[in-house]
Amino acid sequence: MAEVRVENLTKTYGPLKALDAVTLDFRDGGFFGLLGPSGSGKTTLLRAIAGFVIPDDGRVLIGGEPVERVPVEAREIGMVFQSYALFPNMTVADNVAFGLDVRRIRGAERDRRVKDVLDLVQLGDLGQRKPHQLSGGQKQRVAMARAIVTRPRVLLLDEPLSALDKALRVEMQVELKRIQREVGITTIFVTHDQEEALTLSDEIGILRNGRLVRHGPPREVYNNPRDAFTARFLGEANLFSGSLEAGGLRLPDGALIPGATTAMVAVRPENVQVSASEPSGPIRLRAEIRRRIFAGAMGTLILDRHGEPIKAIARDSEFAELPDNGRVWLSWREGSAIPVENAPN
Ligand SMILES: Nc1ncnc2c1ncn2[C@@H]1O[C@H](COP(=O)(O)OP(=O)(O)OP(=O)(O)O)[C@@H](O)[C@H]1O
Ligand SMILES: [Mg+2]
Repeated sequence: MAEVRVENLTKTYGPLKALDAVTLDFRDGGFFGLLGPSGSGKTTLLRAIAGFVIPDDGRVLIGGEPVERVPVEAREIGMVFQSYALFPNMTVADNVAFGLDVRRIRGAERDRRVKDVLDLVQLGDLGQRKPHQLSGGQKQRVAMARAIVTRPRVLLLDEPLSALDKALRVEMQVELKRIQREVGITTIFVTHDQEEALTLSDEIGILRNGRLVRHGPPREVYNNPRDAFTARFLGEANLFSGSLEAGGLRLPDGALIPGATTAMVAVRPENVQVSASEPSGPIRLRAEIRRRIFAGAMGTLILDRHGEPIKAIARDSEFAELPDNGRVWLSWREGSAIPVENAPN
């Protein structure tokens, strides 16, 4: 196992900066979730760590050692990519053993390691099957087994679960975390699914246009996103901006958000309270209900405030008393308004 550090990592493709001076530590044995919009540089970062991409500037250190002179196959990295491409004509066991064969690990040692890792991913009995005889989740586990059988120091996962349906994905998330804990391997996990990143990761990082805009423990980044982009990208956020006064934030329509100390605040949909009658607290905004969306236990209200959409999420039953259409009151507890900066592009 090893920690990974990237320093000032920069990669350009013509005029485009796929990575722009990224500096980041990935803790030994940690599970790091990497997020960002499409094209923000996530795959490029993984490929630079693995050695498939040669940076223009900056460097990668694995276990404290710079690796610019270490070729891909000697970096001791396991990888699972989105299209995890198992060899279709080889058995599960031979697929898993691929990295061992390349390293000329043979005989009893090869068989034992394949068996151990298949047991770990709970495919102990399926070694002699071919990939087409497996379910999506089982194929996924074979790809994982293949990546860890060589006992790499670092595991890089590029949206490994995105091909799976929701139920299977949740099941595999639990599996993935269990395997990662058992092996204790430093893992960097790319996903589009923010909930997945929040659930699995000890730490997350958010890339935008090749830059690392934010990193930290999931709860910390979610609760204090600091800028409007992070607030909206990680979870959902209603943004309110206006001018700052001694008493708080004055919105363009004259309403006041008391206690605010920045010209913009973000309020999570789950913290927005919607009522038919006027709230007693200091925060009272008017809005119109546009739509009520039923999604099982939880419901969503889409409201409109002077042309700006506002979202509120609560147990569906809490919305039962509200009029289908028409004016309502919004409020939230004072601490729910998170100060944010309007991040430049
Ligand atoms: N070999 C390449 N040649 C030219 N441009 C590239 C190359 N590889 C990546 N890019 C560009 O670099 C940027 C970052 O790409 P990257 O694949 O890292 O994004 P990503 O964050 O993984 O996106 P996605 O979520 O869609 O997978 C993109 O604009 C992409 O088009
Ligand atoms: Mg990608």
